[in-house]
Amino acid sequence: MSKKQQDAWNIIRTHEKYRRRVLNLIPSENILSPRALKALSTDLAGRYALRPEFYGGTRYVHELWNYAEELTRRLFKADYVLLEPLSGHIAAILVSHTFAKDKRLATLPSEKGGYPGYEKDRIPLIVGAELIELPSSNEYFTPLIEDSLRVIEEKKPELVVLGGSMIIFPHPVREFSDIVHSYGGVLAYDGSHVLGLIAGGVFQDPLREGADLVYASTHKTFPGPQGAVVYTNDKEVYEKLSGNLYHKIVDNIHLNRLAAYAVTVEEMLKYGSAYATKIVENAKYLAASLASIGISIKARDRGYTESHQIVLDIQDDEAKIKVRDRLEECGIIADAGVRFGTNEVTRRGMGKREMEKIAKLVYRAMEGEDPKKIKREVQALLERFKTVKFC
Ligand SMILES: Cc1ncc(COP(=O)(O)O)c(C=O)c1O
Repeated sequence: MSKKQQDAWNIIRTHEKYRRRVLNLIPSENILSPRALKALSTDLAGRYALRPEFYGGTRYVHELWNYAEELTRRLFKADYVLLEPLSGHIAAILVSHTFAKDKRLATLPSEKGGYPGYEKDRIPLIVGAELIELPSSNEYFTPLIEDSLRVIEEKKPELVVLGGSMIIFPHPVREFSDIVHSYGGVLAYDGSHVLGLIAGGVFQDPLREGADLVYASTHKTFPGPQGAVVYTNDKEVYEKLSGNLYHKIVDNIHLNRLAAYAVTVEEMLKYGSAYATKIVENAKYLAASLASIGISIKARDRGYTESHQIVLDIQDDEAKIKVRDRLEECGIIADAGVRFGTNEVTRRGMGKREMEKIAKLVYRAMEGEDPKKIKREVQALLERFKTVKFC
């Protein structure tokens, strides 16, 4: 039997074909608009630029960079922005290195929604910070306010990070702000998951609620290229972070990413509010539809979610992996959280009726119905939603 010659483009095309035919419910992912995607494969993909400039040939790069910053300031109503960090994780390292190196860093534990990068042998180990876990709810994935305030008051962590990876409700930024500031601490908000919702004005607005800075990935509910943004209204915070960028946390800042990001910010300035509103509406419908057919979802008593995410109430990790794999057999992509996100299906233009349909497909998949039959229905559904909306 002759084996087809392997080449990179064969694999890329096979991947693209595969992902066109499956329904994505991973809350950390999204699809770019055709214009943003095109910007990723321009000449900028191979260039360098620095501040202060070292390389020639960059006059338009700097125009684009300044423009992207200006758009970001407008979108997030912030005075200072940094677009250099290459991803949310790198931004988390930048913030931790700047404010918690050899000090104390407090955040939610990962099993209660916190970012796994803050587990004690990860970013805290890299920057030499002592990790302080904020007592948090296993049902709502938010810090328990009074218990956490007590811990903060006692330990006085120099850096407190709110926001997280499982985030279904706003975090208590307003409630924590005074106490963190009372001893000179910095309150950061990791908006990686909810950046698009913040941009659209449908979730919390951390800067206005008292956070000193927001950092975030730009590719989850914010439907841009993989990368990150940091913004603040505090000049001193901005200057401290800026001082730790070049040749410490970043060198090349991936200018094609910056280009695709600028295109996405333009889209979000125009359509962000409608897109974000629909994402949350869809998440609520999806949760209610799943619950109505017997799938247990976290935070029932609070209406399941105020974000793009819903979290299935499954205890055991092996069972979660089985659900993820079973769903994939049926053409539905999820993670081993098991969290579902409505950011991508909404970007495809799906609405209430489709959320009800997806809930039924998920239920049937979990009940063990023939995967081929479900997959065919998933593909028929996707056929009707092939173009990217809100752009
Ligand atoms: C809350 C949170 N912060 C940071 C990150 C890391 O972001 P990135 O994948 O852009 O490095 C993630 C990743 O999913 C996340 O969930």
